[in-house]
Amino acid sequence: MPRKFVKTKARAARSIIRGRFAKGRLPEVEAFTASLPFDRRLYRHDIQGSTAHAKMLAKIGLLTRREADAIARGLARIGDDIGAGRFEFDIADEDIHLAIERRLIALIGDAGRKLHTARSRNDQVALDLRLYLRDEIGAVIELLSALRRSLVSIARRRVETVMPGYTHLQRAQPVSLAHHVLAYVEMLGRDRERFAQALARTAVMPLGAGALAATTLAIDRKFVARELGLRAVTANSMDSVSDRDFVLDFLSAAAILAVHLSRMSEEIILWTTSEFAFAALPDEFSTGSSMMPQKKNPDLLELIRGKTGRVIGDLVAMLTTLKGLPLAYNSDLQEDKERVFDALDTIKPALDLLAKFWRMLNFDEKRMKGAAGGYALATDLAEYLVARGMPFREAHEIVGALVREAIDAGKSLEQLTTEDLRRHSKSFGADAIEILTAEKSLARRTVEGGPAPATVRRRLREIGRG
Ligand code: ARG
Repeated sequence: MPRKFVKTKARAARSIIRGRFAKGRLPEVEAFTASLPFDRRLYRHDIQGSTAHAKMLAKIGLLTRREADAIARGLARIGDDIGAGRFEFDIADEDIHLAIERRLIALIGDAGRKLHTARSRNDQVALDLRLYLRDEIGAVIELLSALRRSLVSIARRRVETVMPGYTHLQRAQPVSLAHHVLAYVEMLGRDRERFAQALARTAVMPLGAGALAATTLAIDRKFVARELGLRAVTANSMDSVSDRDFVLDFLSAAAILAVHLSRMSEEIILWTTSEFAFAALPDEFSTGSSMMPQKKNPDLLELIRGKTGRVIGDLVAMLTTLKGLPLAYNSDLQEDKERVFDALDTIKPALDLLAKFWRMLNFDEKRMKGAAGGYALATDLAEYLVARGMPFREAHEIVGALVREAIDAGKSLEQLTTEDLRRHSKSFGADAIEILTAEKSLARRTVEGGPAPATVRRRLREIGRG
């Protein structure tokens, strides 16, 4: 429990919502049910929402101007105090909403007692979380773009850097480092779209739903939405307080992103092994071994890969929490916040660190190129025959036999002569042997979406800065 909590015996007296209770709660019940230890992270957004709500109450005449001003000033001061670590949290307040409201009443008296007019913590927390996530999704999108820019800048300089592409983790066909890295740029582009869609569904204003059935008071919900820069108001009060789809949208996007970052990390881990040696781990990002002096370990990448489990877990936990809930609000929903915080605390630093990591990764282009030729050019030979009228299956068979023969003779494909080729098919001309370099193979893959330098440059122009 955070240091700033005060312990008190007179719990019933301290709470502002226990008028109907003769006795206080058991301390262990209080501790188990409170969200204050973690929902304090929402304090700025709680204050933002309350300030807009008070302004609306003044507009419709339920607060005087003076009262609304006193509320706004009191809330601002509370915000400063919490920000500066001066606020004394009391677990008896249950959550950040009551903590702030109780303090406001202590600071400004009766005007503070009017703030919760036409509002419930149920619509209040829905609003707070939406406001919080709106900001945080924006921050995630920024970080995603920064990582994309790191990758794009590598791609720009490595359009001609030939390397083997893999299927089944076996050398398959030549690609370029730029093309490989741009595959991640595409994934991250879709991730960014997913977060933008989550953002659009998050930025909707639920306040006014009250506990579940709105209010008899003539509130102005659209005014509050405008004040908060939210594009619309929610359409059903029961849905407003029980809907956490926007959390699921965010967590699904986060889980998919985490999977992408995990694959990316795994790839770099492979590239930096002595076996691949396509790249060297930068010291700034590597760890040593407590026993083996020679070791340089990619712990950071392993942990980005490992922490993917928790982000997927956050999504599954939230789905599971929601699946049995009848309408409308249920306290189970309080579990949403820690899932959101945990996912954010995992993906934000992972994005930031990977953006920095890629910029410092040193590639061994020679080594990559050396691995790109050889049998990885077999499909090129088969396609050579197809271009001369042979059915692909026949060409596949012929080149397969050629590869087998070359392997038995301990030769690579480039070492074969025109005579070697012609023994397998008279369709091979003198030019066949010339196509057998990784660069030529790459340059001829100009199909849209392909790895040819010209095609990749075109895609880079479309992508722009990232
Ligand atoms: N702490 C609660 C949450 O996080 C706020 C809403 C509580 N509402 C209630 N009726 N207990 O969801």
